[in-house]
Amino acid sequence: MTVHFIGAGPGAADLITLRGRDLIAACPVCLYAGSLVPEGILDHCPEGARIINTARLSLDEIMEEIAAAHTAGHDVARIHSGDLSIWSAMGEQLRRLRDLGIPYDVTPGVPSFAAAAATLASELTLPGVVQSVVLTRTSGRATAMPEGETLANFAATGATLAIHLSVHVLARVVDELTPHYGADCPVAVVWRASWPDERVVRATLGTLQTAIGDEMQRTALILVGHAIGAQDFDESRLYAGDYDRRFRPVGTAPRFPEET
Ligand SMILES: C[S@@+](CC[C@H](N)C(=O)[O-])C[C@H]1O[C@@H](n2cnc3c(N)ncnc32)[C@H](O)[C@@H]1O
Repeated sequence: MTVHFIGAGPGAADLITLRGRDLIAACPVCLYAGSLVPEGILDHCPEGARIINTARLSLDEIMEEIAAAHTAGHDVARIHSGDLSIWSAMGEQLRRLRDLGIPYDVTPGVPSFAAAAATLASELTLPGVVQSVVLTRTSGRATAMPEGETLANFAATGATLAIHLSVHVLARVVDELTPHYGADCPVAVVWRASWPDERVVRATLGTLQTAIGDEMQRTALILVGHAIGAQDFDESRLYAGDYDRRFRPVGTAPRFPEET
């Protein structure tokens, strides 16, 4: 018996890995994390599966479900939205499973920041513009930010910021970022990326509030930085005709000669 933690992706039911889909289809028990996991993903559960929305359960109750499945020898599909490496509450569940001696594994999913970037058709790292992406959030009721992990500190690096769980404090986000990036810095807010009701607003830090108005729905990502929508950037050396590399040796004395 194994508990399979599976990233369900950002919303669209077909943005799950084949491995994740097949594991769901093989598990007689499925625990899924509420509103952000689309119903279409649950269609992969086998007939008669025990399917439980864990949104209303406490961690103790979730563990009781898993322990009961363990006793019965039933594999469990534990589904969370996006990818499990960020804001999934997987860590605390794995710790409990380790204490209980219950086996588990993890299958990654498409994270929402990648889905939002795909919606924008935007590469978040561009040569000569920005080479880092910071996945972050602001303090919430349930989670305070550790000291030092402030928007201002991240902004000081000039990295592209993918700000989660924060659209309800947009005014504060704009205020904190503007001194670092400038009012003309591009920003995009993507609501429910990859869902049928996905919405996008592109603006600058200076115009964002007006562009969005009062519409502050949940489940949105704020992407900020000079790579968003940029046209003025260097071409990467990777495909440069004179760039000598292992997979495309160039010149009479290549750095990585092809073996004959
Ligand atoms: C609890 S976190 C889950 C993050 C998830 N594990 C991931 O890999 O993206 C929820 C936050 O992720 C962002 N999010 C999740 N799904 C989204 C989507 N489809 N479109 C835009 N933002 C999304 C929002 O900022 C939302 O408040």
